[in-house]
Amino acid sequence: MVAPVISARGLRKTFGEFVAVDGIDFEVPPGESFGLLGPNGAGKSTTMRMVGAVSQRTAGELRVLGLDPDTHGPEIRSQLGVVPQDDNLDTELKVRDNLIVYGRYFGISRALCAQRADELLGFAQLEEKAKARVDDLSGGMKRRLTIARALINEPRILMLDEPTTGLDPQARHVLWDRLFRLKERGTTLVLTTHYMDEAEQLCDRLVVVDHGRIMAEGSPSALIRQYSTREVCELRFGSERNADAAARLEGLADRVETLPDRVLLYTDDGEGLLERVARLGLHPTTSLVRRSSLEDVFLRLTGRSLVE
Ligand SMILES: Nc1ncnc2c1ncn2[C@@H]1O[C@H](COP(=O)(O)OP(=O)(O)OP(=O)(O)O)[C@@H](O)[C@H]1O
Ligand SMILES: [Mg+2]
Repeated sequence: MVAPVISARGLRKTFGEFVAVDGIDFEVPPGESFGLLGPNGAGKSTTMRMVGAVSQRTAGELRVLGLDPDTHGPEIRSQLGVVPQDDNLDTELKVRDNLIVYGRYFGISRALCAQRADELLGFAQLEEKAKARVDDLSGGMKRRLTIARALINEPRILMLDEPTTGLDPQARHVLWDRLFRLKERGTTLVLTTHYMDEAEQLCDRLVVVDHGRIMAEGSPSALIRQYSTREVCELRFGSERNADAAARLEGLADRVETLPDRVLLYTDDGEGLLERVARLGLHPTTSLVRRSSLEDVFLRLTGRSLVE
């Protein structure tokens, strides 16, 4: 068994009385793409900052590349690439200079920084923006620049806190493609997200976190198998009628969830279930059958939606 690049045991972080991370255990083997999936306030960024050796843990064990962040912060930071939740690019500097100046912090020679900056501008598809001001980049371009910057020291682990939040679908797909290439090259990725599709696209394995605790762990497909059915029927009866309809549907499916705007029926045979709904004389205004997703896993585990 290969040594994990990150291991946490009973990892905990409190701010005064408030418990942000409540004793979590996880391990990340080298080359894995590992995700923390959870809603706002779950403790994802707090966990990332402890792993990134910029925030001290309150209790528990933590090793990053075999080292303790409490005593080996600089050694750990020099081998990590960090993409924080909010872009913190230097707006005083042009795009290419952001990469070079950041590389210089790691003691990398100017010549090597310049060479890597050009390669990374290519990787991030920002060659044409090399001399642009950071403020003149689009949101997706800023995100790609932040990722490029995080790679200047050729990190062993790339930590990405909500890499695509706030981006349009096309910009997200461009970023996913770039991250997938890194993964193919063997870089360990640790990312947080509250987009289930992002987790399904990028993560080999993930933990579902809520209120500072790990609710479940596994690959996206294993989690869906364990916590959901193969298919889901989404029925809308109108906001006034959903609850009444759900009461009549109880027992028809493996599980019935009533949300304010729709009723979810969990089943392995969606089309068959729709026929049985019709036979009951219930006529939803819209209905659709889809595969189960991580959103359903989250709903099952917490009774809430991932994105409010
Ligand atoms: N420096 C701090 N002082 C006090 N409370 C904090 C601090 N940092 C985080 N918290 C609290 O800890 C909890 C977890 O915050 P964290 O930023 O880790 O959540 P998150 O999962 O990253 O959420 P989001 O999806 O909104 O980014 C929140 O309730 C937050 O208010
Ligand atoms: Mg966060």
